[in-house]
Amino acid sequence: MQQKIIILDFGSQTTQLIGRRLRDLDTFCEILPYNKFPYDDPSIIGVILSGSPYSVYDPEAFKVDLSRIRGRYPILGICYGAQYMAQLYGGKVEPAGSREYGRANLEFFEKDNPLFKGFDENSQVWMSHGDTITSIPDGFRCIASTSKVRFAAYQAENEPLWGVQFHPEAFHSVQGTQLLKNFAVDICGSRQDWSPASFIDTTVKQLKEELGQDRVILGLSGGVDSSVAAVLLNRAIGERLTCIFVNHGLLRKNEFEDVMKDYECLGLNVIGVDASEKFFAELAGVTDPEKKRKIIGKGFIDVFDAEARKISDAKWLAQGTIYPDRIESLNITGKVIKSHHNVGGLPEKMNLKLCEPLKWLFKDEVRRVGRQLGMPKHLIDRHPFPGPGLAVRILGDITREKVSVLQEADDIFIRALREWETVCEDGCVRSLYDQVWQAGVILLPVESVGVMGDERTYEKAVAIRAVTSTDAMSADWAHLPYDFLAKVSNDIINHVKGVNRVCYDISSKPPATIEWE
Ligand code: XMP
Repeated sequence: MQQKIIILDFGSQTTQLIGRRLRDLDTFCEILPYNKFPYDDPSIIGVILSGSPYSVYDPEAFKVDLSRIRGRYPILGICYGAQYMAQLYGGKVEPAGSREYGRANLEFFEKDNPLFKGFDENSQVWMSHGDTITSIPDGFRCIASTSKVRFAAYQAENEPLWGVQFHPEAFHSVQGTQLLKNFAVDICGSRQDWSPASFIDTTVKQLKEELGQDRVILGLSGGVDSSVAAVLLNRAIGERLTCIFVNHGLLRKNEFEDVMKDYECLGLNVIGVDASEKFFAELAGVTDPEKKRKIIGKGFIDVFDAEARKISDAKWLAQGTIYPDRIESLNITGKVIKSHHNVGGLPEKMNLKLCEPLKWLFKDEVRRVGRQLGMPKHLIDRHPFPGPGLAVRILGDITREKVSVLQEADDIFIRALREWETVCEDGCVRSLYDQVWQAGVILLPVESVGVMGDERTYEKAVAIRAVTSTDAMSADWAHLPYDFLAKVSNDIINHVKGVNRVCYDISSKPPATIEWE
């Protein structure tokens, strides 16, 4: 059985980071809303209570009944989690004089406490809190302080229950990962057996059991998640997996053909459907971005559904849903701001059972699994690409001609990013493509004057966009070398008919977004 640590989420922005750190320790964990503890799950080995934007004494603060958790599992409370337990069991939490934000150094009262194994004297930690614990419950011991925080860490007497005021998951807590390792491995007994190889073994076994002799359909997008899901399912059920790849005509230059070839090389059973005529007809004259999205979303479902119905014995619909798509993150009102999504309502329409083999993985773990499955680098390290494709990178209405102009310009930019290598901070040489999160060209509804040879031109302007990001929630424009930008601009203007001006988008998100539409 796959052991797991449960992280109860009280709404802190760093809750996902706790999950990431545990996964980096090859320890499986699940992030759940604070009030959704899975009491019947036999595989739990420990519990972490996260931070929160609330104060424990706010009337609307999130509260959890720990009576069935304390004594059953080791518990680590972080920030709000620590304050919550301190208050719940009879201690006191009060507003700190001023919000404490930044680095601090620990002074230990129990250097030999198992939570601090391997810690250096005065280890640096990261603080971010407006309240402070002013007294701890009877039977709790203070095990560390900082110059400003008396109860920086505590433990309940003779019990595996700890609270820390600082954030071990934060980068600036220098030995924070060591603390989480001490908790997960030494205290909870994690076997640290989560790895891409073990994930593939257990998942293939489970899929075989669950799917038996059933037939499964999967929609491929050319992206990393659906491709890895397909290869994994193919390992489990081989020919009984049928993949459908819909070409809406708004993919990158040659992408449909190239990706079809990749899929065939991987031994996947893929039906490629070229539905571009339908999409161009339905999009003709449409300029509103949301309308474009709706037309493409509905068109995709119709084409996929018609194709899938031909596979009359299919019982399952597989999707490349990944963990961040599913985490029910809480906002300050306690409302779930992101709940389980699935692609455009397909499963409801098709009356098929849903199979999501990657639903526990973070994006980089999906990539590690893909590499372990032997998939080619260019498929695994692909940038994200929006479902509606180039439709949201052509401002205004869409025509085949505009798509092909954009495809040419985009191809020049992306190929140049792949070819241009620089030395990174860690001393490794990487292509610019691998250094940015996402890149593309946008065709603007703007014509401007230029001169080519002796001729005056009046042609289109394009914007090139490249951003760095970790999750697309926020992004910065990539500081690409000037020489590189100069070369791309020249190449586009010299080779793409109809474009005489190239701009570089230097907006960050927020307040701009990554896509222009
Ligand atoms: P924005 O433009 O909101 O984009 O900063 C964030 C990320 O989402 C992608 N994106 C989409 N993906 N359908 C998708 O599947 C869409 O309609 C869509 N719009 C934006 C975008 O490429 C970026 O990775």
